[in-house]
Amino acid sequence: MQKFIIEGGKRIRGEVDAQGAKNSALPLLAAALLARGETVLYNCPRLSDVYAACRILGCLGCECRVLGNTVTVRADDPCGCCVPDELMREMRSSIVFLGALLGRTGECYLSFPGGCELGPRPIDLHLAALRKMGAAITETHGMLRCCCAGGLRGAGIQLSFPSVGATENVMLAAVLAQGTTVITNAAREPEIADLAGYLVRCGAKISGAGSDTIIIEGVSQLRGCEYTVMPDRIAVCTLMSAAAVTGGELSIRGARPQDIGAVIPVFEQMGCGVYAYSDRLFITRNRPLAAVGTVRTMPYPGFPTDAQATTMAALALARGTSIVVENIFENRFRHVDELVRMGAQIKTEGRVAVIDGVNRLYGAKVQAADLRGGAALAVAALAAEGTTELGGVKYIDRGYEELERCLSALGADITRSS
Ligand code: UD1
Repeated sequence: MQKFIIEGGKRIRGEVDAQGAKNSALPLLAAALLARGETVLYNCPRLSDVYAACRILGCLGCECRVLGNTVTVRADDPCGCCVPDELMREMRSSIVFLGALLGRTGECYLSFPGGCELGPRPIDLHLAALRKMGAAITETHGMLRCCCAGGLRGAGIQLSFPSVGATENVMLAAVLAQGTTVITNAAREPEIADLAGYLVRCGAKISGAGSDTIIIEGVSQLRGCEYTVMPDRIAVCTLMSAAAVTGGELSIRGARPQDIGAVIPVFEQMGCGVYAYSDRLFITRNRPLAAVGTVRTMPYPGFPTDAQATTMAALALARGTSIVVENIFENRFRHVDELVRMGAQIKTEGRVAVIDGVNRLYGAKVQAADLRGGAALAVAALAAEGTTELGGVKYIDRGYEELERCLSALGADITRSS
């Protein structure tokens, strides 16, 4: 099991590129299944989840080549419609292949995604929407069997919660369906607009992506295109936390301030200066970190749940009491016990965490239990006195392109050891 060894106390400073967004690359790779000919995705992050998505495409009969940050997919004649169980388990978000497979081949078999590190991961909204579009779906012994003999039909889909994955699955199913689909209470995350951007370039007819109402008119065929994956707003938030806790200053190339509109004021309140200029976002810490009152995670444009853990690591060192309310996932405080081992004073009850800022954190042996929680421990370790041994690096690798290399280049003392 690999771990990070982090010697805390070094300032993070310098210039860094925002990596491509994992949460955009995955649906884009699923979407490539819908397009005949070749899709070339630039700025694809080099992550284990992206490689898993490429393996899924391979199983489905597509040609998929990865060269650095460029992934090329040829989906002329997908011949499979079955996603193997081990790949479904490796990456829960592979559920996004459901809509794409139904749209392209009219049938699919995959195992039920079940729970994950963040708690139960239901897909009832995905299934109800696809059924409304004409899919027959049976669930037996943990397997999902889906088919739509007469093809999918456009429909009015009212989501009871603006689920990101359900919105993506409906979009993927709808682009080649007969007729018009209208999604109301759709997720408004920037990754949804990025997916629409790609699909439209392939020939799809989509309007409203990025708002709560998305209208999709089915077309008969899509053709592959070249597309650049958007920057990863969550990786940007992680870097902002790293700068905040170490009293550092960063210039993050490619970061889009409009994608993190709810996060910037929290960092400003904490005592950081955040400025956008040209294609860069600058962050510097102006004064000792201060508590921020209450941060509530919400669907976009609210504060992102994926930035909750890393922000909490910074709040652990902010003078005063801050409160974090996690409204999206049930089990998203698994980093708290580990932060407490490092000297943080945090108490949780249900979805609420109360953080009493401390002056100092201490290096310790800690374990990542999920992707963003793992990144939060890395952030805390950068500021801690002494050495931290951070296990569970495989979770961090799911979302960060060589985090240790990125942070070392910015002055951190962090190495990977096996
Ligand atoms: C996506 C992101 C993830 C992020 C999350 C919320 C990807 C690959 N992952 O996950 O990083 O944390 O959005 O911003 O893009 N729900 C249901 N029934 C459903 C679907 C969802 O009850 O059918 C619930 C979930 O349990 C969760 C909430 O809705 O509590 C949000 O889930 P959703 O927006 O679907 O997140 P994902 O698409 O899984």
